[in-house]
Amino acid sequence: MAKAAVRSPAKGTQPEGTHTEAEASQKVREMFTEIAPSYDALNHILSLQIDRLWRARTAKLLRPILERPDALVLDLCCGTGDLALALRSSGKARIIGADFAHTMLVRARAKSILGHSQPLTPDPPPLPLAEADALRLPFADSSFDLVTTAFGFRNLANYEAGLCEIHRILKPGGTIAILEFTEPPAGLLGNLYRWYFRTVLPRIGGWLSGDSAAYTYLPKSVSRFFRPPELASLMASAGYTSLEFRVWTLETVALHTAVKRAAAPKSSHQTR
Ligand SMILES: C[S@@+](CC[C@H](N)C(=O)[O-])C[C@H]1O[C@@H](n2cnc3c(N)ncnc32)[C@H](O)[C@@H]1O
Repeated sequence: MAKAAVRSPAKGTQPEGTHTEAEASQKVREMFTEIAPSYDALNHILSLQIDRLWRARTAKLLRPILERPDALVLDLCCGTGDLALALRSSGKARIIGADFAHTMLVRARAKSILGHSQPLTPDPPPLPLAEADALRLPFADSSFDLVTTAFGFRNLANYEAGLCEIHRILKPGGTIAILEFTEPPAGLLGNLYRWYFRTVLPRIGGWLSGDSAAYTYLPKSVSRFFRPPELASLMASAGYTSLEFRVWTLETVALHTAVKRAAAPKSSHQTR
């Protein structure tokens, strides 16, 4: 009797030819450093512009935090800044972006100061950006009210370590939001999407970016990545609470949100 394929849970991303976490991380960094010039255009072409909608929906959902002028928000793996900028324009919170690919950050900075070319409207200030590895962040414990990451978390070399590092820098009661691709269920539309994602997208992406490896890596990394309930349970075991996930666009994208448990109030009752 044929056995059903069993998916072993991924510990972290593993681009082709890499064996250790350090190699995986370096390969991811090189890949994004290389494709930065064509990254935005290809995102919008390959997703038929729907990627803008996913980030806008994420920002809308997080508006109660973003509207607070005292809130500090980190957009991790911010790349060229599209989510960070959507968050900035959705409220008054202070937004910081972090990524380890310098060329992506250069583009994020340039985009962040683009004004609307209206004579009396000052151009926006540059987005504060940190060149940093998501697994070793240069921020103090309990610093942020919200940490977001869009299409970046899947690329970490160790998912559990990534969740712990985000947990460390979140304030008690702070929110994590992970927007990621996911594999749609079987069925006509799911299978059609899979054909597009695994066959058509790598060809167009490779052709337009000149880096076919990066666009072959994309569908492979998504198929190794967690299904939404699996990611939710990893987040729960990393200490997050109030877990929720929503799936969008034929279940090809998921937004997970959760909260770092608020510190228990100190008891005035002392035990001996
Ligand atoms: C697919 S892009 C997403 C960029 C952006 N968030 C967006 O929505 O378009 C993934 C980004 O994650 C960054 N990244 C991957 N692993 C990282 C790590 N360990 N530390 C910091 N950045 C990382 C890459 O450099 C890249 O810019």
